[in-house]
Amino acid sequence: MQGSARVATRPQDWTRTSSLISSDPAVADAIDTIVARVEADSQSFADAEPADPSRIAERDGLLERFAAIRGRGAFFPYLGTGRGRGALVELVDGSVKWDMISGIGVYMLGHAHPVAVRAALEAGLSDLCMQGNLQTNADALPISELLVREASRTSAIRHCFITNSGCMANENALKICQQKTGAAPRVIAFRDCFMGRSTTMAQLGDGPAYRQGLVLSQQVDYLPFHDHATGARSTEVALRQLHELLHRYPRQHSCIVVEPVQGEGGFKTAPREFFAALFDACRAAGIPVWLDEIQTFGRTEALFAFDWLGLGSLVDVCTVGKMSQVCACLYTEAMAPKPGLMSGTFTASTSAFHVGRATVEHLLAGGAFGADGGNARIHAAFRAAVDRLVARHPAAFPPVRDSVGTEQAGFAGGVGGMCRLSPFGGEKSKVDAFVKALFEEGVMTFACGHGPYHVRFMPPVGAFDPSEWLPVFACVERAIVRVISAA
Ligand SMILES: Cc1ncc(COP(=O)(O)O)c(C=O)c1O
Repeated sequence: MQGSARVATRPQDWTRTSSLISSDPAVADAIDTIVARVEADSQSFADAEPADPSRIAERDGLLERFAAIRGRGAFFPYLGTGRGRGALVELVDGSVKWDMISGIGVYMLGHAHPVAVRAALEAGLSDLCMQGNLQTNADALPISELLVREASRTSAIRHCFITNSGCMANENALKICQQKTGAAPRVIAFRDCFMGRSTTMAQLGDGPAYRQGLVLSQQVDYLPFHDHATGARSTEVALRQLHELLHRYPRQHSCIVVEPVQGEGGFKTAPREFFAALFDACRAAGIPVWLDEIQTFGRTEALFAFDWLGLGSLVDVCTVGKMSQVCACLYTEAMAPKPGLMSGTFTASTSAFHVGRATVEHLLAGGAFGADGGNARIHAAFRAAVDRLVARHPAAFPPVRDSVGTEQAGFAGGVGGMCRLSPFGGEKSKVDAFVKALFEEGVMTFACGHGPYHVRFMPPVGAFDPSEWLPVFACVERAIVRVISAA
């Protein structure tokens, strides 16, 4: 899906960027030249490569300095050089990795994609690096309108408030919901959810380590997420628990918040009926529905997962981030807050406005979405690769049981560009060892789930061809063999 060097990102007319490009051929030519040179440079990357032994000491020195200044080391010995191509990225030790985690889902166009390079160069012509709420350049408008245009196709969303982290977008969403419900003190969330790491989001998220030592000021009620093994019955169970909550705490919930596909919680999906039943009940009780799409945005079979699930009519607030580069809280007219509730010095960088918009437009134009779109094809090829791997190494794939002992169907999960592999029965120590072995064999991934544990693959869907799973899974297979041999 890599675009050509001459794909324009069309900056809007009212910025210095666009006036310079349209009025000064030397500027336009210079940008073309740089984009072409970067693209030519990136052609040398074809597959994962091991580290250059002569550069390992230098890498370790940099990592030590980084750990010293930060007060703690990095999870992977990863420091990028700024070079790469698509899903391939170069590290300072000279190694090249298949980047299957994309900075946890951020680099949707992969590394050094011409569309992203061009957009960033255009943004570099601006007088400002960071933009803000009090004084903004016009760059903020096109991406805000693009997000609302796409969200409003099937929902009543009409507004977009930009901010610079997913967590802050979530804080804004919660504040909007609290104000709308007259400061209702409780939130309904889902077991194993993740919402970011501000003091409040760390409490909403269902990860014990994230709230360790924090003052617990936010009251949260957790519902069980959908369980494919029990199907419709799991919807009934969640619905019954929801009704109990509504009975126990009448008019005390500011919102129900859910990730349409649980990310950190284990790439868990749920059918429309599960969400619709719960959302209908909440709306009937006057409780706003908030979808946290920070990880799902652009990765399922529609730009918004609520669209893919046919839930648009039930959404009041939606937060996005990661691949959009800017983060945003989107909401309906009815949810509009009073002045003063949301602001902050920064909105985002000029480069984030341009690259985010170019990325979303590239995915929309490039056929990423739909039941037979790019994301769906990437996912189908992932599952086929997992089936082949399981057939070749059955010892690495004992049954995976959830926290109540129900056996998980199959060893692949997720949807679109959220791909889950479940080796070693979901045992934490082995999954962690596998993630490390994968890195050494040339593939960057990350664990997810809270027991059982899984491995998440988040390829850069705008720059990844399904055929590339072949070289990726060659590394995966070597890592599986390593962990089996070490056991
Ligand atoms: C579902 C979800 N919500 C919120 C966040 C927090 O976003 P950020 O890390 O940009 O603050 C994340 C980050 O991983 C996420 O996956």
